[in-house]
Amino acid sequence: MPLFHRKPGPSALRRAAPVRATSHASTPQDDWRTYDRSAELYAASMEPVTKPAAAKAVQLLQLRPDATVLDIGTGTGVAAREAANAIGAGALVVGVDPSVPMVAAAAHAADGPAYAAATSIDLPFRGGTFDATVACFVVAHFTDYRTALSEVLRVMKPGARLAVTAWAPSEDIDEFKRAWREVAEEFAEREMLADAQARAVPWEERFADQAKLKESLHEAGLRDIWIERMDYRVEQSAEDYLSGRETSAAGRFLRDMLGEEFWETFRTRIRTVFAERFPARFNDFHQVLVAVGHKP
Ligand SMILES: C[S@@+](CC[C@H](N)C(=O)[O-])C[C@H]1O[C@@H](n2cnc3c(N)ncnc32)[C@H](O)[C@@H]1O
Repeated sequence: MPLFHRKPGPSALRRAAPVRATSHASTPQDDWRTYDRSAELYAASMEPVTKPAAAKAVQLLQLRPDATVLDIGTGTGVAAREAANAIGAGALVVGVDPSVPMVAAAAHAADGPAYAAATSIDLPFRGGTFDATVACFVVAHFTDYRTALSEVLRVMKPGARLAVTAWAPSEDIDEFKRAWREVAEEFAEREMLADAQARAVPWEERFADQAKLKESLHEAGLRDIWIERMDYRVEQSAEDYLSGRETSAAGRFLRDMLGEEFWETFRTRIRTVFAERFPARFNDFHQVLVAVGHKP
């Protein structure tokens, strides 16, 4: 029986017993849906996971040495850095993300790109500014993906390319994810975790589907759309894997819902389970769709 359940009523995510004196309500600034509290962990644990996909997306952009490039939902700057490395010193790469701590972590690396806090729905650039744009593991997060994609196309020059990456469905849920979920479900009802995932990443299923990804990009106005599926593995320590899961929507939600005391109990429990079942380092397999198209 999970520690937390949904109460009957209109709010699917209402906090349920036990209510703690230390419990804190989410504010817009401290909303579990943002990555604000995850920046450092994301940089350390997720960058090695998203980097191969960012490198592929940047390769498909076929950047010229003088290109002006925009990385949307840059996070800690993985794709922006890949683009800056791929082109010359005369190029301009800009990364935008609504999470100031994520942008700060990206800027901290101080190795080429410029960064700004901004959301895809209202990009602070003139129309037709960029020769190329890239959006890695972010389109599924857009609340209104149609408006966001049309805004991305607005800031692209005619002929500019947009490359997008999204997680593809794996054949099977892997043993690491299964173990993590089992323990998470000791603390929160499965439905609560599913609701949280749907709120944070509303278009996950849509963009995991190759045909629907293509359709969405075509509807936004991209042409000559090409989609590749990538399968790759990343060797990680169990600790890095678990840190990565903490930055996921379910991890951020659990932490917010449980409060620090129960969150530490969860963290101890998941580490015990992983130590019992898995070696200290293991290979985690990833399936990704990488799409590219151009604005006519
Ligand atoms: C899964 S992370 C991906 C980060 C990075 N692109 C990578 O590949 O590692 C998703 C990022 O998208 C950002 N994000 C969420 N909604 C966004 C929006 N509407 N516009 C721009 N970025 C957004 C989040 O703040 C977060 O940093």
